[in-house]
Amino acid sequence: MDQNFFSNTSSRKDDHLKICVENDVKYENVSSGFDNYLIRPNILTGISPDDIDLSTKLLGKSMDFPLLIAGMTGGSEKGKEINKIIAKVCDEFNIGMGVGSQRVAIENPALIDSFQVRGNAENIPLLANLGIAQFSSGYSVKEAEKAIEMINADGLAIHVNPLQELIQYDGNKNLMNIQQSLKDLVSECKYPIIVKSVGTGFSKEDMKFLSSLNITAIDIAGAGGTNWKKIEMYRNPSLSDLSSTLINWGIPTAECLVNAVGIISDSSKKIIASGGIWSGMDAVKALILGADYVAFALPALLAISKDSETGLRKFIHNYILEMKIVLAMLGITKLEELRKKKNLLMRKTPH
Ligand SMILES: Cc1cc2nc3c(=O)[nH]c(=O)nc-3n(C[C@H](O)[C@H](O)[C@H](O)COP(=O)(O)O)c2cc1C
Repeated sequence: MDQNFFSNTSSRKDDHLKICVENDVKYENVSSGFDNYLIRPNILTGISPDDIDLSTKLLGKSMDFPLLIAGMTGGSEKGKEINKIIAKVCDEFNIGMGVGSQRVAIENPALIDSFQVRGNAENIPLLANLGIAQFSSGYSVKEAEKAIEMINADGLAIHVNPLQELIQYDGNKNLMNIQQSLKDLVSECKYPIIVKSVGTGFSKEDMKFLSSLNITAIDIAGAGGTNWKKIEMYRNPSLSDLSSTLINWGIPTAECLVNAVGIISDSSKKIIASGGIWSGMDAVKALILGADYVAFALPALLAISKDSETGLRKFIHNYILEMKIVLAMLGITKLEELRKKKNLLMRKTPH
């Protein structure tokens, strides 16, 4: 890691970035679940990675691959620099991106420019970001639309992270109105809304509720990748008194995805799979299981911390190449041929 990566940082969001780069913030003993599935390579397909077309659309924008870098940052000089790198590289590959929570910019307009990335990514799908906790404590559709308009985004990702809020010493404990807040926001907002977890996943009951709302997509962000309870523990070591079972509590991404595909029957509601999907192979498994798009966050941050823009470019290049190699070995050249073809996957039998 570049030792100067966090030389001058102070904000809470920068603490999060620093903790993620300097520590192991992954789940312990909880996998995203994709290792329970096997893909059998066919070696006689005669298809080359160059024959594969993974293009798709999100929020009316064309993308060359069904991939997004999930929202992480903004609100500081470091956040601005990272958002700019992500935007440039996403634009090069023509994939989507989200920014981190814009609450700080709603509260302090001087920070707005750290989220504004359209100068580097004019045409990619871009997601604004706010937390539902703010809507349970006073925000209205006004702040939601402001977040979208301030960065000229295509939609708003609303993150839902009650477990983290409850564990965090400065977290928002006012979660009583969470469902009503979501209902109100979705019915009043004139822009598309995506509801996302942050690495704990959504249960079947949660997803049934979400599928009743007029949302554009769910980002399941299941367990097995970045663990926010652990990140909060690094910020506040007294949390290490909590049991490791609680700290590592969440629903594995593959399980959330299978449930989401079963519950969300309206094909106009899209499913974004994320939470520990850190390889092209696992991304292909997620698409076979029925995801419309795949997103990742931490691996992008780690790649940037290692080698800035070049590091991220290399990571995404290899991720896409891996997806294409796997698809070539499956004899598949188009995204539509992949989705829900569950016969391409085998469930590993337990030993
Ligand atoms: C450093 C960092 C900061 C994040 N900040 C936000 C945020 O502000 N808003 C949000 O919705 N999710 C945030 N996330 C969660 C990610 O968007 C994503 O849902 C989660 O990390 C799971 O993906 P992963 O396992 O690929 O990291 C953040 C993740 C990381 C690693």
